[in-house]
Amino acid sequence: MRQLIAGNWKMHCLMREAVALAEGVAAGAGGIAAELLVCPTALHVAAVAAALKGTPVAVGGQDCHAAKQGAHTGDIAAPMLRDAGATFVILGHSERRHDHHETDAQVRAKTVAAIEAGLTPIVCVGETEAHRSVGEEQSVVAGQLAGSLPTPFPGVVAYEPVWAIGTGKTATEADVEAMHGCIRRELLRLLGAAGAGVRILYGGSVRPANAGSLLALPEVGGALVGGASLKADDFLAIARAAVSG
Ligand code: 13P
Repeated sequence: MRQLIAGNWKMHCLMREAVALAEGVAAGAGGIAAELLVCPTALHVAAVAAALKGTPVAVGGQDCHAAKQGAHTGDIAAPMLRDAGATFVILGHSERRHDHHETDAQVRAKTVAAIEAGLTPIVCVGETEAHRSVGEEQSVVAGQLAGSLPTPFPGVVAYEPVWAIGTGKTATEADVEAMHGCIRRELLRLLGAAGAGVRILYGGSVRPANAGSLLALPEVGGALVGGASLKADDFLAIARAAVSG
């Protein structure tokens, strides 16, 4: 399966900056074996999708509501993202779980809505430093998977240890290998044989310098990149480190 290199632009860029960044990524995408995705803020999805039309770079949202439409001021429905040109959506990112108190049940409902709208969900899981310090990282992540994933699940999982996000700290190769193995076992348990086909991305301070070793680990199906995705050259360097096959 091709690795997926996804950029989560979070709450960064004005419109013209987002379009320029997307154009920069597309300009360097030729010859890259990995699947490429950029996720701007929802306000910029349509402009970025227009800029990327005809290129191999896909566009995704960073969240969606569980309802198709309705009286939910300030929220964005999955069919709206799809209509604006998105084909993916990140769900249950730790920043949303933290800032907006999103629960596993809400993430699952959003995931169902995304799938119904024709979007590929990227469901994020990951433990805090406090969980890891008492050896609970695998049970926490297994619980998040069980609570957040609907069955069937035609999507992607992203493992993002909370303590590695935006901190410059990366999980060790041994930590990533152990957790991705654990996630694969849980996917097989929850989804049956279909669990073998779900890509598991690693996220948390992925940089050009560490991408090669992280992306070569077993059960790593790509990367979810925050800070380094805001520079086209860095994002493309990470994508070039992806392994094909
Ligand atoms: P950083 O790459 O900035 O650590 O962010 C990771 C992340 O949260 C991607 O969703």
